[in-house]
Amino acid sequence: MAFRGWRPPPPPLLLLLLWVTGQAAPVAGLGSDAELQIERRFVPDECPRTVRSGDFVRYHYVGTFPDGQKFDSSYDRDSTFNVFVGKGQLITGMCVGEKRIITIPPFLAYGEDGDGKDIPGQASLVFDVALLDLHNPKDSISIENKVVPENCERISQSGDFLRYHYNGTLLDGTLFDSSYSRNRTFDTYIGQGYVIPGMDEGLLGVCIGEKRRIVVPPHLGYGEEGRGNIPGSAVLVFDIHVIDFHNPSDSISITSHYKPPDCSVLSKKGDYLKYHYNASLLDGTLLDSTWNLGKTYNIVLGSGQVVLGMDMGLREMCVGEKRTVIIPPHLGYGEAGVDGEVPGSAVLVFDIELLELVAGLPEGYMFIWNGEVSPNLFEEIDKDGNGEVLLEEFSEYIHAQVASGKGKLAPGFDAELIVKNMFTNQDRNGDGKVTAEEFKLKDQEAKHDEL
Ligand SMILES: *[C@@H]1O[C@H](CO)[C@@H](O)[C@H](O)[C@H]1NC(C)=O
Ligand SMILES: *[C@@H]1O[C@H](CO)[C@@H](O)[C@H](O)[C@H]1NC(C)=O
Ligand SMILES: *[C@@H]1O[C@H](CO)[C@@H](O)[C@H](O)[C@H]1NC(C)=O
Repeated sequence: MAFRGWRPPPPPLLLLLLWVTGQAAPVAGLGSDAELQIERRFVPDECPRTVRSGDFVRYHYVGTFPDGQKFDSSYDRDSTFNVFVGKGQLITGMCVGEKRIITIPPFLAYGEDGDGKDIPGQASLVFDVALLDLHNPKDSISIENKVVPENCERISQSGDFLRYHYNGTLLDGTLFDSSYSRNRTFDTYIGQGYVIPGMDEGLLGVCIGEKRRIVVPPHLGYGEEGRGNIPGSAVLVFDIHVIDFHNPSDSISITSHYKPPDCSVLSKKGDYLKYHYNASLLDGTLLDSTWNLGKTYNIVLGSGQVVLGMDMGLREMCVGEKRTVIIPPHLGYGEAGVDGEVPGSAVLVFDIELLELVAGLPEGYMFIWNGEVSPNLFEEIDKDGNGEVLLEEFSEYIHAQVASGKGKLAPGFDAELIVKNMFTNQDRNGDGKVTAEEFKLKDQEAKHDEL
């Protein structure tokens, strides 16, 4: 191949590489040593895209004379040569990863005289070129290699908070960052400008559990400057795996899988519940299970013993029922998570089975009478009739009432503590004894939790 209409080589050697071709037409009479040669030394198996006019490329090169003596190398400067590709240039048609050896005869280079410095006269120049990166300023992101789970009930949208793992590589395969190396997901709001524009867009429309590759051109990534170990003008390839996402406006979601034929007694605030659960992340990772502990988890509903989402998820449930409760982090363990157990900002999945329900007392009560209250209550409590009731006497009496079914303590709490609180409440002057007078005063006030 040789040319007609050749214009004089521009001074910077590097441009030489780019401006050579053009209206290529065979020229008779040139010796083989005078020919422009392009040898495709290596072409990758996959070549989805090749360099075209108007693209921007980053490449490395070594420039030598035919005898192998080096006169220039981008490797020595430790940075690629980055440039727009014009019409008909020598790297047109190259794909990323391709290596070419381009031999330029003197008449297309510095001719008879050389450049007066490094290039002597009549020198052919041999460029060993490796294309690292390629994009077009008109490119948007591209999404490839999608692996979407079968059950995809919801796709991410702007304003969602997403947790994902990723490997970030350059087009030549160099890994520049990976969330796996930190053992934790990258967590961010999406569509709101918290991440580079290309990712902000590429993370929209994903399913939980989805994997995809997001290819981000530099103008939607870190631009001409680059960042850290990301070179300037680099195309970025993110292989991501979506672990979960939620929206800050999400509530919990409840799916009931089984209800027994009689499901009329439903759990409510104050009830004492015994249940089994398996807790996992949306990607299926098991976090915790009562089955492993070999015993149920027991709580008083509405008393703050579990995270808010769990408290909500256990309401209006009957004994024997099985349900799945999905809890967004703001109703779970929040941004912090639980060190070593629950990742920060994680959506949690609880598979729950309610085994036992003990109805609670009316709201605010810790003890109630089942029937009429005895008119001679103080005298009954004051067993030894000395006009003073000590804690021991009081406790014995209350427990006897509970045992005989006449009274009831709030289930799920420490009975001794309730009794002690009741006693302290009656003992107005705090001397450790309740007198008939103190008892009556309290009685008149007729407050909760009192006799
Ligand atoms: C990530 O976890 C692995 C295995 O548990 C451990 O060897 C490694 O040190 C952890 N890396 C970091 C950065 O915590
Ligand atoms: C990231 O790279 C690691 C190591 O090669 C691999 O195990 C993991 O599946 C990759 N993740 C994604 C989302 O491609
Ligand atoms: C929890 O997992 C165990 C073991 O896989 C299973 O037997 C049990 O039924 C699960 N419990 C609930 C409440 O889903």
